[in-house]
Amino acid sequence: VVEAPKPLIVKEPEVEVDDGKKKVTIFFGTQTGTAEGFAKALAEEGKARYEKATFKVVDLDDYAADDEEYEEKLKKETLAFFFLATYGDGEPTDNAARFYKWFTEGKGREEWLQNLQFGVFGLGNRQYEHFNKVAKVVDELIVEHGGKRLVPVGLGDDDQCIEDDFTAWRELVWPELDQLLRDEDDTATVSTPYTAAVLEYRVVVHDPADASLQDKSWGNANGHAVHDAQHPCRANVAVRKELHTPESDRSCTHLEFDISGTGLAYETGDHVGVYCENHIEIVEEAERLLDLLPHTYFSVHIDNEDGTPRSGSSLPPPFPPCTLRTALTRYADLLSSPKKSALLALAAHASDPSEADRLRYLASPAGKDEYAQWVVASQRSLLEVMAEFPSAKPPIGVFFAGVAPRLQPRYYSISSSPRMAPSRIHVTCALVYEKTPTGRIHKGLCSTWMKNAVPLEESRDCSWAPIFVRQSNFKLPTDTSVPIVMIGPGTGLAPFRGFLQERLALKEAGSELGPAILFFGCRNRKMDYIYEDELNNFAENGAISELVVAFSREGPTKEYVQHKMLEKASDIWNMISQGGYVYVCGDAKGMARDVHRTLHTIVQEQGSMDSSKTESLVKNLQMNGRYLRDVW
Ligand code: 2AM
Repeated sequence: VVEAPKPLIVKEPEVEVDDGKKKVTIFFGTQTGTAEGFAKALAEEGKARYEKATFKVVDLDDYAADDEEYEEKLKKETLAFFFLATYGDGEPTDNAARFYKWFTEGKGREEWLQNLQFGVFGLGNRQYEHFNKVAKVVDELIVEHGGKRLVPVGLGDDDQCIEDDFTAWRELVWPELDQLLRDEDDTATVSTPYTAAVLEYRVVVHDPADASLQDKSWGNANGHAVHDAQHPCRANVAVRKELHTPESDRSCTHLEFDISGTGLAYETGDHVGVYCENHIEIVEEAERLLDLLPHTYFSVHIDNEDGTPRSGSSLPPPFPPCTLRTALTRYADLLSSPKKSALLALAAHASDPSEADRLRYLASPAGKDEYAQWVVASQRSLLEVMAEFPSAKPPIGVFFAGVAPRLQPRYYSISSSPRMAPSRIHVTCALVYEKTPTGRIHKGLCSTWMKNAVPLEESRDCSWAPIFVRQSNFKLPTDTSVPIVMIGPGTGLAPFRGFLQERLALKEAGSELGPAILFFGCRNRKMDYIYEDELNNFAENGAISELVVAFSREGPTKEYVQHKMLEKASDIWNMISQGGYVYVCGDAKGMARDVHRTLHTIVQEQGSMDSSKTESLVKNLQMNGRYLRDVW
C-alpha cells in the first residue's frame, strides 16, 4: 500500500508587530545616493498608505557590526525590501560590501530566513556584463535560505530611465503590501494615489560677517581619524603634467596629490575618491538661471524650527553653511540630466503655467518616451533644461534638496605605490570632452578640473581637492615570485604603474620577482604612449619581464591588446599553469569584455579543453582571486 503523501502544510510567515504596528525594513546599498533615495521614497509612500505599519530605512553597513549580528538581526526580520546597486565588475557598493561578502559566503543555517517575506530592487546598467548581479544574487540566495519572494527582482537600468523601472516595480509591491499590511476593516486608505512631495530644506540666511559660520565648507576636514566619502581630507595638487604629446587631439593628465601630514594612507591598487568643483562658467550660468545672489550666505536644515523632521526623512544630508557660489561650486551636480522628480520640483516653481504643464508632462507616464528622448538620449544637462524653462525659479531650499543632486566624488585607480611615493597619490586621468546630441560640449567635471589644476610646483596658491582612499582587492600576490599577467590599455595602465613601482622597490630591497608581462595599448606611439620612458625603465630594471604594446592607429588594421595576447598565448598559459595571476584594468564595456573572451580562447586552445572545462577554469581563477578586474 502506497501511502498518499501528506499534504505539506506551509505556514505563511507572520509579519512582525511592534507597538501594534507591523514593521517593514528597507535596506539600501548605495554609492551615489540613488538606491537610498528609492528606499526612502518607498518608505514615505508606505507610511502614507498604511497607517498600521512602520517603515524603517537602513544603511546595510549600519545595520550590524559583524557577521553574527547580521545573522541575529536578519533572522528576526519578517518583511524587508532591499535596494542594491551593482558596480564595476559586478561588485556591491561600499556600504553593502561587508553584508554581501558574508551573505554570499553562505553563512547561516538552511532555511534560516523562512520568516522573511521580501522584495529586491537592483540598480545597474545594461551596458555592463554583470547587469544587476548583486541584486540577482541576493534575491536568489534569500529564496534558497527559505525566504518568500513577494515580487520579482526589479532590474533597474541606468542606461535608460531607472526612475521608471523603480516606479513600475513599486506598482507590483503595493498589491502585496495591501494584503499584508491592511486590516480588513481598513478600507478607507485603499489606493490613495501617491505623488512625490517636492523636497525642500529649511534655509537660514546668515550675515556673512558671522565669523562662527565661516570656512565650514569641507576640505577643512583634516584631522579626522578616518577619511572616507563623508570625511574627505584636503589635499594639495603637487604636480600636474600632460601625458599626451602636442600632436594628440586628446588629453591625459598625470596629477599628484600631496598627502603628507594628512593621515591619509593607501596601498598599491587602491582607488582615490576625488570631490571636485564645477567650473566657474557653469556656476555663473546656474546663478543666472536661478536668479539668486551668489554671495548669499546660508545654511540648510532637515528639521523645522521646532526640531521636528521636515517631509519625512527623505531629504539628502545637508552641507555646511556657505555662500550660494560655494554651494553651487562644490555640492550641486549641474551637468547630469535631471531626474523626473527634479522636473516636478521645477514645475512647482514655474511662474509660466505652460512651462509648468510641459515639465509635468515630461515627468508623467504619458511623457515617458519624450523624457527618454528629449532628456536622456539628448544628454540634456540640468542647466540646459532650466534654460528651456526660464520661468522656473526654485528657491535655494528646493534647488539643493530636490532639483540638483549632490555632486558625487569621482573614483580613480591610484597610479603610484606607497613604496615609491609614500606622501603622494598619483592619478592618471583621460580628459572627457565630447559633443552631446544637442551640440553642447560636455566637459568631464573632474577630468577638466584636473587638466586645469594649478600645481604647487607652479604656485603657492595651488589647486586642492577633498579626497579619500577606497580600498580595493586589486592587489599583487603576496608571494612576489608568482607570475603575473597585466592587461591595461589607455588609462587602464594606471594601477599597473603602481604595481611596477612596487615590484621595483621590492626588487631593490632584495625580493625575488616572478615573471611579469604587461600588455599596454594606445593609438599611436607618437601621441598617446603614456609613461613610455618609465615603462622602458621598468623593463630594463626587471620590474617586468616583458612589455607588449598594441598600437591601434598606426597600421592599416586596428591592433588591440587582445590581439597581442593571442600572439603570446603559450606564455600566458604557462604563467597561469604555474599559479599566475591575471589582471585587467580599463573600459568595461568594450575592452574588458573582449579581453575576457580572448582569455577563454587562450585557455581553451592552449589547455586543449572543451568549452565547459574552460568556463569552469576561468570561473575558478576568478573565485580564487587570481583573475582580477578593475574596470569602469
Ligand atoms: P582605438 O581608439 O583606436 O579604437 C586606449 O584607449 C586604447 O584602447 C586605444 O588604442 C583604443 O583604440 C583601444 N581600444 C578601443 N576599444 C578597444 C577594445 N574593445 N579592446 C581593446 N582595446 C580597445
